[in-house]
Amino acid sequence: MADLRTHIKDIRTLAQKTKKYASKISATINEDIANAREHDPAARSNIEIACGYSGVHAIWGYRLAHAMWIKSDTIKILARLLSQAIRLVTGIEIHPGATIGKRFFIDHGMGVVIGETTEIGDDCMLYHGVTLGGSSLKAEKRHPTLGNGVVVGAGAKVLGAITLGDNARVGANAVVVRDVPANSTAIGIPAKNRAREDYRFPIDPSIYI
Ligand SMILES: CC(C)(COP(=O)(O)OP(=O)(O)OC[C@H]1O[C@@H](n2cnc3c(N)ncnc32)[C@H](O)[C@@H]1OP(=O)(O)O)[C@@H](O)C(=O)NCCC(=O)NCCS
Repeated sequence: MADLRTHIKDIRTLAQKTKKYASKISATINEDIANAREHDPAARSNIEIACGYSGVHAIWGYRLAHAMWIKSDTIKILARLLSQAIRLVTGIEIHPGATIGKRFFIDHGMGVVIGETTEIGDDCMLYHGVTLGGSSLKAEKRHPTLGNGVVVGAGAKVLGAITLGDNARVGANAVVVRDVPANSTAIGIPAKNRAREDYRFPIDPSIYI
């Protein structure tokens, strides 16, 4: 009888955990779809995004592969194989060891490469043909770090363990090999930084009153 009670308790705990994970996954899926809709004026419905956007499929695949990657060393090979399978389908290669924040969006997708030690903050966006790549052959931090709200234009290459500050923008086809300060735009080869005129530091007027 005691055994039966223990089994029932175990089943209840498992069911609760499954419910918690399922609601977390569904919240993430909804957030990704809403985010894609916000970033692509051509998107007309959620179903179109869920079924037809390779950038969204790539990020879902990455999330699963990343969860496997950090879970245990023994299944890292499976995580790698999964990410290669996703690359085959989407044309987007995201190493499962990369760290990516919330509401990440890749528009068009094809030809995007994101290296193993890349770190990406929240609300970032990449267009097709972007490489966040390494410039060292040592097994060390060798890929870029992107702050929050960074946008990287089509075809741009961001190379090495450099940092792109919050809200930085990278112009299409730029090759970025040095840090980009927050709220700046990097353009050209090698990319030069320009402070953005449209950026206004948020000052709370109440501090002067
Ligand atoms: C770099 C970028 C973010 C700048 O946008 P912006 O702030 O509106 O700037 P502007 O278009 O007013 O251009 C500012 C200056 O940068 C230059 N410039 C803009 N984009 C450039 C680029 N990719 N490479 C080189 N120079 C560029 C402009 O010629 C202009 O030069 P000037 O001041 O000497 O006249 C934008 O041009 C860009 O490249 N966005 C990427 C978008 C993309 O990849 N879309 C793909 C959709 S499929």
